[in-house]
Amino acid sequence: MHLPDFKVARSNNKIDYKKKEYSLASKYLNKYKDKKCFLKTYGCQMNEHDSENIKGILELLGFDFINDIDNADLVLLNTCSIRENAHNKAFGLLGKAKHLKESKRDLMIGLCGCMAQEEIVVNTIMEKYPFVNFVIGTHNFYQLPEILEKSEEKQQIEVYSREGDLIESLPVDRTSKYKAYVNIIYGCDKFCTYCIVPYTRGRQRSREKEDILKEVDNLIKDGYKEVTLLGQNVNAYGKDLYDNYSLAELLEDVAKTNIPRIRFMTSHPWDFNDKMIEVIAKYPNIMPSIHLPVQSGSDRILKLMGRRYTKDKYLTLFHKMKEMIPNCAISTDIIVGFPGETEEDFLETLSLVKECKYDNAYTFIYSPRVGTPAAKLPDNVTKEEKEQRLYKLNEIVNAYFKENNDKLVGKTVSVLVEGISDKKNEYYGYSETNKLINFTGDNIEIGSIVDVFITTAKTWSLDGKASE
Ligand code: SAH
Ligand code: SF4
Ligand code: F3S
Repeated sequence: MHLPDFKVARSNNKIDYKKKEYSLASKYLNKYKDKKCFLKTYGCQMNEHDSENIKGILELLGFDFINDIDNADLVLLNTCSIRENAHNKAFGLLGKAKHLKESKRDLMIGLCGCMAQEEIVVNTIMEKYPFVNFVIGTHNFYQLPEILEKSEEKQQIEVYSREGDLIESLPVDRTSKYKAYVNIIYGCDKFCTYCIVPYTRGRQRSREKEDILKEVDNLIKDGYKEVTLLGQNVNAYGKDLYDNYSLAELLEDVAKTNIPRIRFMTSHPWDFNDKMIEVIAKYPNIMPSIHLPVQSGSDRILKLMGRRYTKDKYLTLFHKMKEMIPNCAISTDIIVGFPGETEEDFLETLSLVKECKYDNAYTFIYSPRVGTPAAKLPDNVTKEEKEQRLYKLNEIVNAYFKENNDKLVGKTVSVLVEGISDKKNEYYGYSETNKLINFTGDNIEIGSIVDVFITTAKTWSLDGKASE
């Protein structure tokens, strides 16, 4: 048994890990043939991609995947810790699984992902959820076959507080045939005071560039049209491995593979340098779409958050991107109601939003996370005030989404076609700037990149017709 410990996760010792190739002992192949797994994924792209690897592993064990929890032999929850409501959803589903297990005694129930790394979650499970067969952490989910087997006998809690080995060549079953996630850096060293990610995902570890480029080459051979380079903070890529090889150089090397579309997320303003902007501007296959979370427009709050930039610094970077990268769309994340956020602080955020006129924004009410420094700060802002601020902020950001979309009416945009919508002859896909486009056309190949003439703008999508 290994239990999570935030003190260990926070400690500053130099991390020591090895790169290893994934291998599965032959005794596990098809061990669970014809068994059915219901896998539920919460959280960010990182978790979605982990679930693609988990699926890949469980398929080797013989599992089929189903959407109907009632018929499952294994219920697996890949969880997220970022805000309280993510916790609540996962515990809600665990309650449902418990109920199922009452009539199906050999049902296996497992929990993995970020919540598994939290002491309070694991303690609750050990005390109150004896029906959960196993808990497995983010650093060792590849050990699923062994832990699943052991959990047939007794409850297994296998969570490491420090980074485990960096595993290459994990099996993968990707959700899309055209768009793929590629991890470039694991973990996060920023320790923003409100955020739990550095505790649940460990210290920054970059993948070797050769492994990343090999994965991209293989995706091209498999017909993929788009890769998203993933990390909690992709701009820190390479810092732990190389002297002169950063995200800029990696983006350039990935661009030279000629894959039609490259995206990357998430960016932290702190590590975003001019060279990265130059490379994005230079290569047409690097999409002009940047997610640049700001969190707040108040210098006082930014300092309390530990973000290490000021409103002015952020704005300088923002405008540089807009100037240097033609038609660049920028999206953001914003938290309202950080402990002690005053009306003036909030007005600073609104003034920043009015200046940036974001193409997209994810807005949140601050949610205290046990074990993070911000959770200990006094907070005199009421829940109602926080909700009002969120409401007001959303009204403003939504108006800008529409305003930005309006500018595209009458223009032609390039769309990677992802599917056919319920309406006949209507397709959908995403533009280079990551906007959802619904459009009409005849005999369009899914997975192709087509020109679409935009006829109507909405807040969260655009309508159009395929150009002849
Ligand atoms: N690594 C990325 C994103 C991390 S999580 C980054 O640093 O930008 C995604 C978003 O969730 C964050 O950008 C932040 O806006 C939000 N978030 C993180 N912790 C939160 C908390 N405790 N309460 C509310 N929102 C939070
Ligand atoms: Fe969390 Fe900050 Fe790291 Fe993003 S950069 S994952 S917000 S600690
Ligand atoms: Fe959630 Fe973990 Fe991602 S906390 S946002 S799933 S890194």
